[in-house]
Amino acid sequence: MRVGILTSGGDAPGMNAAIRAAVRCGTGLDLEMVGIRRGFAGLVDGDLIPLDNRTVGGIIEHGGTILRSARSEAFLTQAGRQSALDTVESSGLSGLVIIGGDGSLKGAHWLDTHGVPSIGIPASIDNDIYGTGMAIGTDTALNTVVESLNRIRDTAISHGRVFVVEVMGRTSGYIALMGGLAGGAEIVLIPEIPISLDRVATLVKQGQNKGKLHSIIVVAEGFCPKGSPKEQNGSAGQAVNNFLNENKSIEPRLTILGHLQRGGSPSAFDRILGCRLGGKAVQLLKEGKAGVAVGLSREKIIAVPLEKMGQKSENIDLQIYDLVYKIAS
Ligand code: F6P
Repeated sequence: MRVGILTSGGDAPGMNAAIRAAVRCGTGLDLEMVGIRRGFAGLVDGDLIPLDNRTVGGIIEHGGTILRSARSEAFLTQAGRQSALDTVESSGLSGLVIIGGDGSLKGAHWLDTHGVPSIGIPASIDNDIYGTGMAIGTDTALNTVVESLNRIRDTAISHGRVFVVEVMGRTSGYIALMGGLAGGAEIVLIPEIPISLDRVATLVKQGQNKGKLHSIIVVAEGFCPKGSPKEQNGSAGQAVNNFLNENKSIEPRLTILGHLQRGGSPSAFDRILGCRLGGKAVQLLKEGKAGVAVGLSREKIIAVPLEKMGQKSENIDLQIYDLVYKIAS
């Protein structure tokens, strides 16, 4: 049995651990493992490389993905999808392991329902994928955010300043909320809970009146202030920063963490998760149990039907959101 493995969408630290585990557990099960480069784009173009236990050596500690990744436009077209099916047939692949976010796992579902037995592995720093408590990469990204906030707090306290820190999350506030809680932020602004910029300014001023001269405002990149048009010029962090600066004379400083949140050596948690999910994926393929994504639930690895894949509908725990503000007061 020849099994292809690909990584798709935004890279996430721990993807390499999953590739390594899938390849080594796969060869142990007499599967021939083949890498597909650049995600679905490589499947469309037939960009395949052989993988064995040695080619995946020395990668567990590295962020990114040795198979590279892409957000493939071609795979969204009918012609592209047909090319992907042609690649599967011409290269004799009898199964696929697809590592990526909610869009990638929907792609896995499409392939599975078009005759290509597929298993999904959720990986995204946003932790917004249905069917798993944690996605590969989220823990490392959170640690990066927390370390960044620690550094920012040093200077914020020294100068008694307000800092606006923009983190990733176009549609998901998970990194902002959990990173903000762990990093001691006073205010967290997320796409799921729009609040007005006037309210943000009031919260900052209330803190200052209580003698708290510094504050850290963590803003998810997808935050849209209440009462503002959905389409904004510039980033969400920039909008918050400008409003506080111009309208409320608070003189904040802005830091946009950007893609540095996606890189870096994976945490122990993400390596362990990658190993467990990678190993389970090939085991299920070997057993003929495709059409599922593997995920983590209460410390156990579970299998969830691919047809259910998509974004988690309730990704934000309101009690945790409230806790951030209670602790800040
Ligand atoms: O992978 C998820 C994510 O990092 C989001 O948090 C972010 O909005 C998006 O990817 C950025 O994507 P890109 O690197 O393609 O600009």
